[in-house]
Amino acid sequence: MASWSLAWLLAGWVVSLGHEPLVGVAAGSIVSLGLARVASTGVRRFIIAGGFPLSVAACGWAGSIPAWTWLVPLGVLLLVYPVAAWRDAPLFPSAATALDGLQSRLNLAADARLLDAGCGLGHGMRALRREWPDAHVSGVERSRILAFVCALVRPKDCVRCADMWRVSWKDFDLVYLFQRPESMAQAWNKACMELRPGAWLVSLDFPVPGQRPDVVIERPSERALFAYSVQSTGSTRSDLSHLRVQTTPARGRPNGPERAAAAR
Ligand SMILES: C[S@@+](CC[C@H](N)C(=O)[O-])C[C@H]1O[C@@H](n2cnc3c(N)ncnc32)[C@H](O)[C@@H]1O
Repeated sequence: MASWSLAWLLAGWVVSLGHEPLVGVAAGSIVSLGLARVASTGVRRFIIAGGFPLSVAACGWAGSIPAWTWLVPLGVLLLVYPVAAWRDAPLFPSAATALDGLQSRLNLAADARLLDAGCGLGHGMRALRREWPDAHVSGVERSRILAFVCALVRPKDCVRCADMWRVSWKDFDLVYLFQRPESMAQAWNKACMELRPGAWLVSLDFPVPGQRPDVVIERPSERALFAYSVQSTGSTRSDLSHLRVQTTPARGRPNGPERAAAAR
């Protein structure tokens, strides 16, 4: 509220000096952007930076701004979050420490092949590399502009612009997702169909519905991490729930409720 008020005061002052309203809006927006930089989280930065221009639009001052101006943020939004990606998550970066502790819980080779499915600007890839410094880290991203920027900021990793549901996951030892709850059943089905037995599906914040995670990492003020070991290639989700009851658990892990308790 303080940052929005400051932006409004500045815009009013600029207009009172005889400048066009557009100049006042620009001055207020620049101050908002500057203040947003010191905010602690991405959401706070977004609220601080966006609050002033949105309130300008809402109160009608926008009438004096050329109509085409409003197409610019819409165009940027569509570039960053293309319509084809709307059923999955928009850009929301993983914290640098989001995967801390995972390496010691999963039995993966140091040079394992890791995929961030929906890699955005590469924050998840950075978190993966923090845990597995010698791994082969890849990312696939639906938005062309995000994939382009991600490839620039992660020159040593492999970044592709593609639909994560259409690329094969079969060559990877671990697939990492930070998507939406609605994406998780499809992700699990794809993992069971394509990943080799013993490979991992790891999800930040959103568990796979109806599946018991093999590993759960919960830390104060961090999003929970859920890891699932794929046990048989070509299985579907419902096949697996049948197998879980019928088979001896792999690698000596407990089954059923004990397995969930052990995971936590
Ligand atoms: C919540 S962000 C996570 C970004 C990154 N994985 C991280 O953890 O920092 C989700 C990303 O998935 C991308 N995405 C959504 N649907 C996709 C799809 N079908 N194929 C590839 N990327 C997709 C979005 O564009 C967005 O960048």
